[in-house]
Amino acid sequence: MRAHHEPVLLAEVLAWLRHGPGLYLDATLGDGGHSEALLDSEPGARLCGCDRDPFALAFARDRLERFGDRVTVAHSTFRELPGAHRAAGGEPFTGALFDLGLSSRQLDDPARGMSFQTEGPLDLRMDPSRGTSAAERLQAADEPSVAQVLRAHGDLREAATLARAMVAAARSGGLATTRDLVSVLDRALGGRRHPRRYAQAFQALRIWVNDEAAELEAALQWLPDAMGPGGVVVTIAYHSGEDRRIKQVLRGARSFPSRRRPPQASEEPDRGPWLELTRRVVTPTHDEVARNPRARSARLRAFRRKPT
Ligand SMILES: C[S@@+](CC[C@H](N)C(=O)[O-])C[C@H]1O[C@@H](n2cnc3c(N)ncnc32)[C@H](O)[C@@H]1O
Repeated sequence: MRAHHEPVLLAEVLAWLRHGPGLYLDATLGDGGHSEALLDSEPGARLCGCDRDPFALAFARDRLERFGDRVTVAHSTFRELPGAHRAAGGEPFTGALFDLGLSSRQLDDPARGMSFQTEGPLDLRMDPSRGTSAAERLQAADEPSVAQVLRAHGDLREAATLARAMVAAARSGGLATTRDLVSVLDRALGGRRHPRRYAQAFQALRIWVNDEAAELEAALQWLPDAMGPGGVVVTIAYHSGEDRRIKQVLRGARSFPSRRRPPQASEEPDRGPWLELTRRVVTPTHDEVARNPRARSARLRAFRRKPT
């Protein structure tokens, strides 16, 4: 059985995450690459491994079978993590990993419709057993909402124009596949090929269809109660909106009154329950990106739960 997804920043994840025996959370199990390395290198580690994708879970469950009862696997979104945690015994976590976004298994499967580079239904769900596909959602959506999605999650300057074209195509039955979406974008943008725009539009629709911003928010709000004192959370984000939100919430900083002068002692924000361990964001080396181009946008941060 060969893994399809190459774990990103593997040595760095282990260096920050692993610190002794206890229960670890992998909230984004995927192919189980990070978790397998953790369980191999930390004999006292037990794992609560979760993913919303039933296909990823089936693969990871087989891969991690040799660890026996050290591993509990759950079909769970971030919102459902409290239930998965209780089912795994509810012991406060020693470590938690959120390796966000998509796995190569999802990206490369044409049936998921995740990529403009493969022909398939315009689905984009990480869990095809729940919710509605991107094509169905676009048929029912109005232009301003779609424009807002493209702007907020894809940074698309042409959001209004593209939304108009997409909603019109969806309502007339002409937006069922990934190729249809590329053709609609090409026509709306004036006929040339625009791979960067396609990637931005697919990312925006994927975040929308999977409700990724609200999912992340739910996990970040729940984490302080789930982690044991001294427990470490490692996050890997693949786009700037996600990374920004992780920083805002886990740094616990309110915005300072002025950006032009350093904060006065009286203005020091309440730093909340987390201590930031990574002084600077950790990114992959040139070698890693050369080996695995999908790692290129990865941004890793680590935070320690302060004792209460
Ligand atoms: C980048 S992959 C993880 C790869 C994994 N670390 C490995 O080594 O194979 C991200 C995984 O997170 C899952 N995922 C993303 N958002 C999720 C959410 N809100 N709830 C549950 N799973 C999620 C995806 O289904 C995907 O399998």
